[in-house]
Amino acid sequence: MRKKIIAGNWKMNKSLEEGMGLVSEVSNMLKDEYKGSAKVVIIPPFIHINSVSKLIAENPVMAVGAQNCSNHKSGAYTGEISADMLKSCGTKYIIIGHSERRQYFGEHNAWLAQKTDAVLNAGLNPIYCCGETLEERESNAHFTVLEKQISEGLFHLNATQFSEVVIAYEPVWAIGTGKTASTAQAQEIHAFIRGLITKKYDAALADNITIQYGGSVKAENAAELFSAPDIDGALVGGAALESRSFVAIVKAMA
Ligand code: 13P
Repeated sequence: MRKKIIAGNWKMNKSLEEGMGLVSEVSNMLKDEYKGSAKVVIIPPFIHINSVSKLIAENPVMAVGAQNCSNHKSGAYTGEISADMLKSCGTKYIIIGHSERRQYFGEHNAWLAQKTDAVLNAGLNPIYCCGETLEERESNAHFTVLEKQISEGLFHLNATQFSEVVIAYEPVWAIGTGKTASTAQAQEIHAFIRGLITKKYDAALADNITIQYGGSVKAENAAELFSAPDIDGALVGGAALESRSFVAIVKAMA
């Protein structure tokens, strides 16, 4: 059965002290209040990863992730951070190709394919992001855009490698806008992505891949989104910055 994963992407928010406070609260609430089986991944800025990892070490439900990594293994790449370094600090998951990286930092599919390899070579799980802009949706190009993002970023992998990938569908028009995709819209895309994986690999592999939805997920809409058969969790931005709202989303995953 595929894994359910709720991840909180803090983006460029929280001082170390604020972040540690937030993680302590989330960890304590989950210990007391959560009986489900979803994995809860905290994805703070790089510099907090080591501290978060130590803080949650005793909590079996939780794991820590990173928001990005280098496509290189090591070397003279000033300012970059490798997947191996992140692993040494306790990282289990690394977001690859978030739309903000694609949009503001010029990350394109060929480069993201290399980053995905770097994550897998370190023995970690990539959370590969895909999603269309509003313009692409309105011109009915979304299926083509998604197919290109997924095939160019991931379809060079063999089946064993692909089984380690988590996919996050994050429509750009829903990120930070308060405008969530409807459950039907998200389900349609998740089923489409699973269909692409079936065509490239096989149905059994496709059925085992976790596909998260991201884009204005909140306590109020999480349960409805999670009721769809192909939505296996969420990649949460704004609502992950406050313990109550994040834990409410986790609890919505029964
Ligand atoms: P919001 O939940 O703030 O819309 O952000 C979603 C996101 O980009 C998570 O990676």
